[in-house]
Amino acid sequence: MSEKRSGFSSRLGFVLAAAGSAVGLGNLWRFPYLAARYGGGMFLLVYLVLAVTFGFTLMMAEIAIGRKTGLSAIGAFRALNKKYTFIGYLASIPPIIILPYYCVIGGWVTKYLWVYLSGQGTAATETGFFKQFITQPGEPVLWFALYLGLTALVVLLGVEKGVEKVSKWLMPVLVVLSLFMAVYVLFLPGALEGVVYYLKPDFSHFSATTVLAALGQLFYSMSLAMGIMITYGSYMKKEDNLTASVRQIEIFDTGIAFVSGLMIVPAVFAFSGGNAEALDEGTSLMFSTLPRVFAGMPGGGIIGGVFFLLVLLAALTSSISLMETVVSIFQDKLKWSRRTTCLAVLGLCVVLGVPSSLGKGVWKSFTILGNDIFDFFDFAANSVIMPIVAFLTCVFVGYVLKPKTLIEEARLGRRDAVLFTVVIRYVAPVCILLILASSLMAKLGILTI
Ligand code: PHE
Repeated sequence: MSEKRSGFSSRLGFVLAAAGSAVGLGNLWRFPYLAARYGGGMFLLVYLVLAVTFGFTLMMAEIAIGRKTGLSAIGAFRALNKKYTFIGYLASIPPIIILPYYCVIGGWVTKYLWVYLSGQGTAATETGFFKQFITQPGEPVLWFALYLGLTALVVLLGVEKGVEKVSKWLMPVLVVLSLFMAVYVLFLPGALEGVVYYLKPDFSHFSATTVLAALGQLFYSMSLAMGIMITYGSYMKKEDNLTASVRQIEIFDTGIAFVSGLMIVPAVFAFSGGNAEALDEGTSLMFSTLPRVFAGMPGGGIIGGVFFLLVLLAALTSSISLMETVVSIFQDKLKWSRRTTCLAVLGLCVVLGVPSSLGKGVWKSFTILGNDIFDFFDFAANSVIMPIVAFLTCVFVGYVLKPKTLIEEARLGRRDAVLFTVVIRYVAPVCILLILASSLMAKLGILTI
C-alpha cells in the first residue's frame, strides 16, 4: 500500500472498526436463515464450537500477520515468503465476488426501509410481497443501484471516519432493539417451540453439509479468509493486546448473530408452525418474517422503520469495508488513481450485481450447479474459495512460517499458544479439507451425505 498507515488511536477504536466490518448482513440476514435451514440447535452448536476454535485461531493468525508485516494480504504473504504470495491473491477473490451481491441484499434492505418510511408496512406482511418484489426485473435493480451508489460515494469521498462514528452508537442500539424484539417474539403463540428448535441440538441434523455451512458462515460473518483482517491488523499498534481484541470482536459478532436468530427463528414457528418449507425459505426469511412481527406490535410501523434503518447502517459499514478492500487490491496492482479505481470497481459491481439480482427473478431458470446466479456467487465464495484460503493460511502458518512467529507477535499465553498450535497445524487443515471435499462431492452428485 502506498499511502501511510494511519493506525487506530486506541484499542477500542480498532475493535469497533473491525466489528463494524464484521457485523452486517451476515449476522442479521444470513445467520438466521442458515440456522433455520440446517436444524436450529445443531447448527448453533456447531457454529459456536467452530467460533471458539477455528474462528479464534484464524482471526488471531490474520491480525498477527497484518500487524507483523504492516501490509495488506498480497504484500503480507509476499513479505513473509515470496513463494506463498499466491495465497494473498487467492484471498483477494472472495471480496470481489461478495461485494456485488452484498449490494443486492443492501438494496432489498433499502427498499424495506422505504416501505416503512412511507407507511406501507402492513403491505409487506402479505404473503408473496417479498417474492413479488425480488422477481420483478426493474425495481430490485434500482434499489441495488441506489445502495451501491451510496457505498461507492462514501468510499469515493473518503468519509469512512464519519461512518465509523455512527457505528459506535449503532451497534449497542441494534443489540438492544433486537433483544427487545426477541423477547416480544417469545410471547407470540407457538414461538416457544421455535426457541426449543433454535437452542436444542438435534443430532439427526448433523451432517458434513451442516458443518460446511457453519464454517462458511463463520468466515463470512467474521470477515475471515479474505485478507480483510490482515489489513485491519496492519493498522493495529504493536503494544495493544491482540488476544483481548480478537475475543471482543468474536463476542460482538457471535452475540449479534445469536440474537438475530433468536428473533427470527421462533417467529417462523409462530407464523407457520415451523413447517419445513418455511424453515427452508433461505434468503427471503428475514424479509418475509419480520414485517409480520412488526404488524402485531403496538407502534410496529415506527419500530420497523427504525429496525431497517439500523440494518441498513450495519450493512453499509460492511459493504464500505468490502469496497475499500477491493479498491485497494486493484489500486495496489494497477497503480491507478483512487478515483479511477473506485469507478472501475463500481462498474464491476454493476456487471456482477445486476445478474445476481435478476437471478432471483427473470433469470431464475439459469442455474450453475443447481444454484441461481446469486446463490452461486454466495456458494463459490463462502463454501469453496474461503475454505481453500483458510486451509492454505493454516498450512502456511503451521509449517512454513511456524506458529511460534505469530505466537510471539500476539504474545499469547501458554494455554492459548497450545490451542493455536494444535488447531492451526492439525485440527483446522484436516477438518477443512474433509468438509470441503465431502460437500463438493455431494454438490457434484458423487456422494450422498
Ligand atoms: N462480515 C460481514 C457481514 O457479516 C460481511 C463482510 C465480509 C464484510 C467481508 C466485510 C468483508 O455481513
